[in-house]
Amino acid sequence: MLKNKIVFLTGGSMGIGLCCARAYAANGAKLAVMAIEPETPEIIATELGANSIGITGDVADAAAVKAAIQTAIQTFGRIDIIHNNAGIAHPSAPLHLTTEQEFDRLMQVNIKGIYHTTVHGIEYLKKTKGCIINTSSLVGEIGQELHAAYTATKGAVNAMTKSMALDYAKFGIRVNAVAPAGVWTSMLKEWSNEQPNSETIETYLDHIHVLGYCPEGDVIADACVFLASDKAAFITGCILPVSGGAELGYRRGIDQDAFIKQIEKR
Ligand SMILES: NC(=O)c1ccc[n+]([C@@H]2O[C@H](COP(=O)([O-])OP(=O)(O)OC[C@H]3O[C@@H](n4cnc5c(N)ncnc54)[C@H](O)[C@@H]3O)[C@@H](O)[C@H]2O)c1
Repeated sequence: MLKNKIVFLTGGSMGIGLCCARAYAANGAKLAVMAIEPETPEIIATELGANSIGITGDVADAAAVKAAIQTAIQTFGRIDIIHNNAGIAHPSAPLHLTTEQEFDRLMQVNIKGIYHTTVHGIEYLKKTKGCIINTSSLVGEIGQELHAAYTATKGAVNAMTKSMALDYAKFGIRVNAVAPAGVWTSMLKEWSNEQPNSETIETYLDHIHVLGYCPEGDVIADACVFLASDKAAFITGCILPVSGGAELGYRRGIDQDAFIKQIEKR
């Protein structure tokens, strides 16, 4: 679905981003992956082979993003897809107990990172009539207890996605977002450990997803491949929940089978 496409992906060294990187490559794309870990080049070489490159850098740093995009252009000559996936979620806290430093860092990475890739990448996307995918979160729309600053960043990502879709449509550039609920990654494990009832979190996470389980990143990657591909040619400004129905607001737990047997007896 992405044969010969060039993807610039942030936060692709692990978790959801690494699943996306693998799926993009499996669908024929070549990637430039920017992530914060010093070993990002080795991770990408091991995972994706010689066709793709890994670049260590901080998306909050304008100069680092500019340099990473230049490296992608020097290596591949073009960029078709920018996927802004890099993100942080710490701390799990109400707003008044979030330090100013924590608040600022969340904004710098989760929002300003997208600003930087857009400033430095948009001219290349104009040339390819490419697309942008932002990894948002369901909590950007519905909120989340003990996570106000993080949810604010994802609310901003949703708003920016829609506004960017409007601004760049005239260049043939589509801008969409994926909104997972929970995905088992190191970010989610860290969040789980921060919760007062961390021993019951796994069950809780299974129950918020109507489909019955908290997934791995592969389900998000499948949605991203679709949004990046020409199969999504008429989709823009969309915040796509990839959340097992979590946004429906129900908690599994009712014994439906027993209930249905009761009705069948009537
Ligand atoms: N895991 C979940 O349950 C979940 C749910 C909804 C949304 N998300 C979003 O998905 C995205 C990926 O999350 P994950 O769970 O895979 O996290 P993760 O911690 O497993 O991976 C985070 C990735 O972002 C990169 N990164 C972090 N800070 C960076 C920085 N300053 N500069 C460059 N790269 C940086 C890391 O290098 C890593 O590749 C995030 O935007 C997150 O908010 C995650």
